[in-house]
Amino acid sequence: MKAQKKTASRIAIVIMAAGKGTRLKSRHPKVLHEVGGKPLLAHVIAAATQVVPASDIFAVIGHEAERVRNAVKDSGVNFVLQQPQRGTGHALMVAGESLSGYGHVLVLSGDAPLITRQTIEQLRDFHSANNAAMTILTSILPDPAGYGRVMRVGKGDDVQAIVEQKSANAKQHKITEINSGFYAFSIAALQKYLQKLGTDNPHGEFYLTDMAAILRTAKQKVVAVVCENPFEVLGGNTRAELVDIDHRMRMSKCRQLMAAGVTIFNPETCVIDSDLEIGADTVIEPHVQLRGKTRVGSDCHIESYCVVHDSEIGNEVILHPGCVIESSRVARKAILGPYCHLRPASDIGEGARIGNFVETKKMKLGKGSKANHLTYLGDSDIGEGVNIGAGTITCNYDGTAKYQTVIEDGVFVGSDTTLVAPIRLGKGSYVAAASCLTQDVPADALALGRARQAIKQGWAKQKRDERAATKAKA
Ligand code: UD1
Ligand code: CA
Repeated sequence: MKAQKKTASRIAIVIMAAGKGTRLKSRHPKVLHEVGGKPLLAHVIAAATQVVPASDIFAVIGHEAERVRNAVKDSGVNFVLQQPQRGTGHALMVAGESLSGYGHVLVLSGDAPLITRQTIEQLRDFHSANNAAMTILTSILPDPAGYGRVMRVGKGDDVQAIVEQKSANAKQHKITEINSGFYAFSIAALQKYLQKLGTDNPHGEFYLTDMAAILRTAKQKVVAVVCENPFEVLGGNTRAELVDIDHRMRMSKCRQLMAAGVTIFNPETCVIDSDLEIGADTVIEPHVQLRGKTRVGSDCHIESYCVVHDSEIGNEVILHPGCVIESSRVARKAILGPYCHLRPASDIGEGARIGNFVETKKMKLGKGSKANHLTYLGDSDIGEGVNIGAGTITCNYDGTAKYQTVIEDGVFVGSDTTLVAPIRLGKGSYVAAASCLTQDVPADALALGRARQAIKQGWAKQKRDERAATKAKA
């Protein structure tokens, strides 16, 4: 008895994600198109895993199934293969086998990424409070075109049918309450009635939406609940819809960040991905892009045209305009830019400076060290209090392999120096400007690697005088 009760109350989530997305006119599967910097499906999975454990979530995949599976496999959800894809009703038929141990299932659309935990819970709770066979999450949209319309029985919660856009008559087209594509079903009702679905419709597919009328006819309870935020259910079926969803998602992210103490000037010009974390009192100027898994500390100032991907920026960092930073780390109080490029695995120490037109890659710059102008530092380990002069270049590549440059604490590298790696500059050493160094420099030594200067007294004047004489003769 006890075990039975447990089964009846267990809830699974099915996410329908097998469709091709014909209306996007894309080579790529619809649910992998990105909004807020993440695939549509990843957003839906993130909301679903806040309601039930990943082990109770079943993503129905089909079109480009392996690509879709790979893109979200880290989430830990289960996958069900729907091959071929014969409609949303068919997606549920295919998922059916996995659902026998559950009492109810919440069905979500993999192409509607604005859905939140609260709304999924609202659907679940309304379904169980009504003890319904099917509950439909609906929304009242100013422009319902394209969506299935919900036909209620009078003004109550009961639903008679869902009519798809293509099958609706003129009167039904005027209904503004749309089917969100999110449902709750009792497993018992699905098991009994899903096989009654037919394909007599313009696409010749099994429409899950037909379950409303089928269950109603069978005297089962079918109810609808309106989603509080009407836009949360928007689906990305076309490019225009994707861009609209992306915009809504980013604006809401900016509002959340501002509520948490971040200043974002002209947020509509900024591109801030949904997984970003930013500390309070950080100021973000217009036209900044913060992407992927980036974390920005508090009290930072990020000026215009910075683009930061998957990086960690400490507290009180200043990014002057035009810094491009990828998969790197910048410690507190560092000052970067304008116009620098940190390529992957750059690690900039506390209070360090990277200036104009400096490129770095796989390098560590110690506390308080500076590389302020026109420099390339790759495969390098640079200590604390080091000064790298303008135009310094680490020659890290010989066409086959990469080599390491080590610059110990307190080294002064004069401008226009080329360091041919592998090479080590010992602690406190000094490199004369315009040197080309190919050998290690001992600690505290001076290294000169350039030709000695020669002086020819009066040479320039003599040249001028000769030229003037030739001209006078002509
Ligand atoms: C569907 C609903 C419509 C509703 C709208 C809300 C149907 C018939 N219509 O229309 O009433 O207003 O959602 O967004 O359900 N999928 C599969 N397997 C398939 C077909 C689709 O997994 O065989 C997946 C798709 O990948 C997608 C989701 O199901 O994530 C919905 O399919 P889609 O073709 O986008 O349905 P809509 O036309 O938007
Ligand atoms: Ca859709």
